[in-house]
Amino acid sequence: MLGNVQMRMAPLTTIWVLVLAMAVFQPSMILSGDAGINYGRNGDNLLSPKQVINFLTKDLNYRISLIRVYDANLDILEALSGTNLVVTIGVPNEAISYVASSQEAADKWVQDHIITYIRKGVRFRYICVGNEAIPGVVASDVLQAILNLQNSLRQRAGTQDIYVTTAVSANVLGVSFPPSQGQFAPNVADIMSNITLYLHRIGSPLLINVYPYFALVSEPGRISLDYALFQAPRPIKDGELEYYNLFDAMVDAFVAAMVRVVQSEDVKLVVSETGWPTAGREPYSSIENARIYNNKLREHAITRGTTPRKADINLEVYIFSMFNENFKQAGEQQNFGTFYPNLTQVYPLWY
Ligand SMILES: *[C@@H]1O[C@H](CO)[C@@H](O)[C@H](O)[C@H]1NC(C)=O
Ligand SMILES: *[C@@H]1O[C@H](CO)[C@@H](O)[C@H](O)[C@H]1NC(C)=O
Repeated sequence: MLGNVQMRMAPLTTIWVLVLAMAVFQPSMILSGDAGINYGRNGDNLLSPKQVINFLTKDLNYRISLIRVYDANLDILEALSGTNLVVTIGVPNEAISYVASSQEAADKWVQDHIITYIRKGVRFRYICVGNEAIPGVVASDVLQAILNLQNSLRQRAGTQDIYVTTAVSANVLGVSFPPSQGQFAPNVADIMSNITLYLHRIGSPLLINVYPYFALVSEPGRISLDYALFQAPRPIKDGELEYYNLFDAMVDAFVAAMVRVVQSEDVKLVVSETGWPTAGREPYSSIENARIYNNKLREHAITRGTTPRKADINLEVYIFSMFNENFKQAGEQQNFGTFYPNLTQVYPLWY
C-alpha cells in the first residue's frame, strides 16, 4: 500500500510543478486565444483606478486577465503594481512626436512608465504607440517612435517579453472585401508598409481595431445582422475559404494586406478593440445584440482561436469596453461598456 502511494506521489508532484509553472507563465504566453478588456476613462462617473483594478483582481478573480489602457496614467500603473494582470499600455497620440523626437526622449518615457513599474511588479505585454494615429497629423512619427522605444527596451534587462507596436482601425485598409483582396489604402500604404515590415522584423504583432458593428451600420443593405453577430446560417465564400462571420472576414483582410507587404503568411496580429454598443442607434445597437456579439466573440477567440485563413493566429482579442464613457461623442460611442460604473454587468459576459 505504502509503496503504491509513493509511486503515485512522484508523478503527481511533477504534474503540480508543471501546473504551477504554467500558471506563472500562462498570461504572457497565449496559446489558444484569449479575451481581455479595454479600460478607457473618458467619463466623470467612473471609480478610481485602484477600485477598478481591485475589482478585476479580487471580485472577478482574474476572469479577465488581460487589460489595455490608453494612456500611461501613473495612477493606473500604481494600481496595477503587484497584480498579475497583463497590461497593454498606450503612448497617447499627443506624446508620439515627443517619443519620436530623440532616443533620449524615448529612453526617458520607457524609464518613467515601464522600468519604474516593472520594478513595482507591473506585467507589460505591448506598448502601443498611439491609437488609430494613422492616418493623421502624427502618422509620420509613429514608426520612428516605435524604433526608439524598441531601442530603449532592448538595452534594458527584464523587457524581452514586451512588444512595441501601434493600433490601427479598418480605415487603413483600402480594400477589405473579399478578405483575400485586403490591402492598405493608397494614402497610408507607404507608412503601413514600412511599419508592417519593421514589426515583422522584430516579431511584434500589429494591433487592429475591428468593428463589424460599424461595417453593418454603414452598409445595412449589404451586410446581414446575422453575419455580424456570428449567427450566419450559410458562409460567404472567398475562393476555398468559408466565412461564417464578419469578424473573421475583417481580420483576414488585414492578414491579406500584411502578407502582401512581407511576402509571407507569417504575420502576427492582435485585435486590440472590438465590441458592440448597447444603445445609440437602434435597432442595431441593443443590450441583446451586444450580449450576443461579445459572448460569441469571446467563445470564438477562446475555444477556436483561428480564422479561416490563419490556423496559427491564436486570436487575442480585447473587448471594447469596460465602461460606458460619458465624455465620448454622444450616441452609440458612449454605450460600449460591459459594466456599469457601479461594477455590475450590463449583461452576462464575464462571469
Ligand atoms: C518607407 O521606407 C522607405 C525605405 O526606407 C523610405 O524611402 C520612405 O521614405 C518610407 N516612407 C515613409 C512614409 O515613411
Ligand atoms: C448599478 O447601476 C445600474 C445602472 O445604473 C443599476 O441598474 C443597478 O441597479 C446598479 N446596481 C447596484 C448594485 O447598485
